[in-house]
Order: sequence, then C-alpha cells, then structure tokens
Amino acid sequence: MLEERNEELIFRDRLEEIVESFGEGNQEGAKMAIKECQEDFGFVSISHQKQIAEAFGLDEKIIKTVIKFMPSIKESKVEYEVICCTGPRCAKNGSVEVLKEVKNILGIDFNETTEDGRIRLRGQNCFKKCKFGPNIMINGKFHHQMDRKKVQEVLGKMVEK
Ligand code: FES
Repeated sequence: MLEERNEELIFRDRLEEIVESFGEGNQEGAKMAIKECQEDFGFVSISHQKQIAEAFGLDEKIIKTVIKFMPSIKESKVEYEVICCTGPRCAKNGSVEVLKEVKNILGIDFNETTEDGRIRLRGQNCFKKCKFGPNIMINGKFHHQMDRKKVQEVLGKMVEK
C-alpha cells in the first residue's frame, strides 16, 4: 500500500490520467479508477466515490451502481469520513490545534474508526487549498479556515447523533 502522506495526491494525479485517456462520462474509465482506488487504499470510500464521479462528470449514483456490479470492490461503510490536512501551510495557520480538537472530540487517531463504526479519521498531507486552511474534508466536502470552535460545531453534531 502507498504511504499515507502521498497516497491521496498520487491517486488524484492517476485519476486525471485515467479521465484523460478514457474521456469524461466513460463508465469503463470509472471502473478502472475504482479498481485502482481499491488497490491503493484497500476500499473505495465515500469521498473517493465522489471524487471519481466528479472527475468523470458522472452522477455519484452511477458510481455506486457500477461498484455493485464489481464484487471484488469493498465500500467503506462508515457514515462519515473525516480527512484533516496535515500539511505545513495549514500547520502554520493553526491546524495543530484543529487536529488535536478533532482527535479529542472523536476519541480516535488517524486511520481509526469510532467504536460505533460511524466515523473514520484520516490525515492528508495537503489538499492544495492552502490559502483557505486549516482545511478538513467531511464526506468529500471541504470545511475551510477551521479553528477549535468550528471543529466543535461541525463534529459535535456528528458525534451527538
Ligand atoms: S497545507 Fe493544507 S491544504 Fe495545503
């Protein structure tokens, strides 16, 4: 498996290449991206499904349907996937405090899932959105300029459920 630090960026570049060679809207290309995602990460998470759908200009439901017909593909079953930027520019903008608060509220570290199996936490070196940092992504949606208070607001709702 690729190193956590680089794996998302490598996959993003690879996805661009696949879209270029198959063309937007091509389901065979989407299948290849899904397979590569599985090889790199061990499963195809909600945010990866969204990423693949966007890259190919396809609806997320189509990606879900494609996955259903690919028995070897494992979907991540968590309800929420939280990815925090661990890159140096977000760190300069205060992400160290943000990361501490995220881990504290969820009660888990990177690459762990909450006991109830609902929330998985990961780190990513850089989202290439440094000027809006500290950044976190939840189910493929960015939350910019995070601070402790915003983390409490956003994650507090998720853990209360
Ligand atoms: S360092 Fe966080 S988005 Fe680049």
